Amino acid sequence: MAVGTGIEGYKCDANDVLSIKLVHSEEDVIGKEGVFHPMMSHQVFGESETIFGYKGLNIQLYYHAGSLLTYLNMEYHEQIPRSYGIKPDPVIPKIVEQIPQGFISNRDEFISKLQKEDSFTPMGNKIHSYFNDDTEYEIYEADIFTPRLKEYHEKLQTFILWYIDAASFIDIDDEKWHFFLLFEKKKSIAPIYNIVGYMTVYHYYSYPDKFRPRISQTLILPPFQRKGHCVELLHAVNKHYISNPDAVDITVEDPSEDFVRCRDFVDCQNCLKLNSFSKDKLLTDYSDDMRKDALEKFKITKSQARRVYEILRLRVTDISNNVMYHQYRLCVKKRLNLPFQKQARDMEKLRAVLSSDEYNSAMVGQSNEERIQRLDEAYKLLEAEYFKVIDRLD
Ligand SMILES: CC(C)(COP(=O)(O)OP(=O)(O)OC[C@H]1O[C@@H](n2cnc3c(N)ncnc32)[C@H](O)[C@@H]1OP(=O)(O)O)[C@@H](O)C(=O)NCCC(=O)NCCS
Repeated sequence: MAVGTGIEGYKCDANDVLSIKLVHSEEDVIGKEGVFHPMMSHQVFGESETIFGYKGLNIQLYYHAGSLLTYLNMEYHEQIPRSYGIKPDPVIPKIVEQIPQGFISNRDEFISKLQKEDSFTPMGNKIHSYFNDDTEYEIYEADIFTPRLKEYHEKLQTFILWYIDAASFIDIDDEKWHFFLLFEKKKSIAPIYNIVGYMTVYHYYSYPDKFRPRISQTLILPPFQRKGHCVELLHAVNKHYISNPDAVDITVEDPSEDFVRCRDFVDCQNCLKLNSFSKDKLLTDYSDDMRKDALEKFKITKSQARRVYEILRLRVTDISNNVMYHQYRLCVKKRLNLPFQKQARDMEKLRAVLSSDEYNSAMVGQSNEERIQRLDEAYKLLEAEYFKVIDRLD
């Protein structure tokens, strides 16, 4: 879509003009249904996420829904006239830099290959299957030695450019990477598999002979989002590592807010099964039993176990009961205050070595009132996040 008139009329919002589709047939390619757009494109088209030089631009990045055979092309109504003395932005070359070779740019050729691609089958070991809205889904675990995985992952990871901020492609030759691929299984004469999403997990070494799985990237493709697939994937991946005695705990690298909510939900669902997280125990202080149980039974890290406790305690706290609610806030704020306490101790040490002017300027924004205000704001944000998880639990 062009935004403006005159020279401005040749400027397009890159997220609007890039159409992505998962297809099986000629009708899918030609029809208007099923298109989705990037959430971001700055890693390809620059910070402003605009493309300059065209009117009526439409970039088509279509994939066979299972094999991810790729079609890339662009159409436009008009290119900026030479009289303006400005060249249109390169579009296809920018995308070609990011996607693996082997894509097709001739539409008829792409369409002619689609039917054969329907024989695509997932790679790796099936670790879990489930039904969602009467359709079966399967999760496969693979590593870099799994036949066909490398080539497949190369195509799959191109999606993260459009959906994960500051995403970077992983070093596929590092054998510590593990992959969990989620497929929709459509019943036909032979089943037809469609990719739904995936998760990458890195196995960090843990002294002396164990490892710590760290969830790195998770993506559920837009047509499948908000249907509970991420939670299914997380449960399956957790289960996979819980049964492995060499895995210490399951960590997550730089998660997005949406992912944090899914993880909180899954960890809360699990901990609710533990006696140490019973209502009575939740209404008293956080205990070492909770930390140990969460780690031993579900490989939940120390900080995440504490977070789960706070969410589950809020769930059983009667917030209309002033005393009860006050006790809850106090318990969370005490934890939130720990870094501030350390800061206060550091400031005391500084008092001995700084002049009074230097000390006063270092103390700007550090007064007790300001600290309490910051604590209060942090608490409110956290409580709002916790309530979203509680809503889903209930
Ligand atoms: C974050 C992400 C992985 C979540 O995947 P998802 O499959 O949509 O997750 P779920 O469906 O389990 O839950 C997402 C939401 O849908 C809601 N939901 C689940 N099933 C639902 C249903 N049947 N009807 C309506 N809503 C539903 C959940 O309650 C949850 O709501 P919330 O966001 O308000 O907490 C996905 O959105 C994604 O890939 N985003 C882009 C990339 C990203 O951020 N990755 C994570 C960081 S690396």
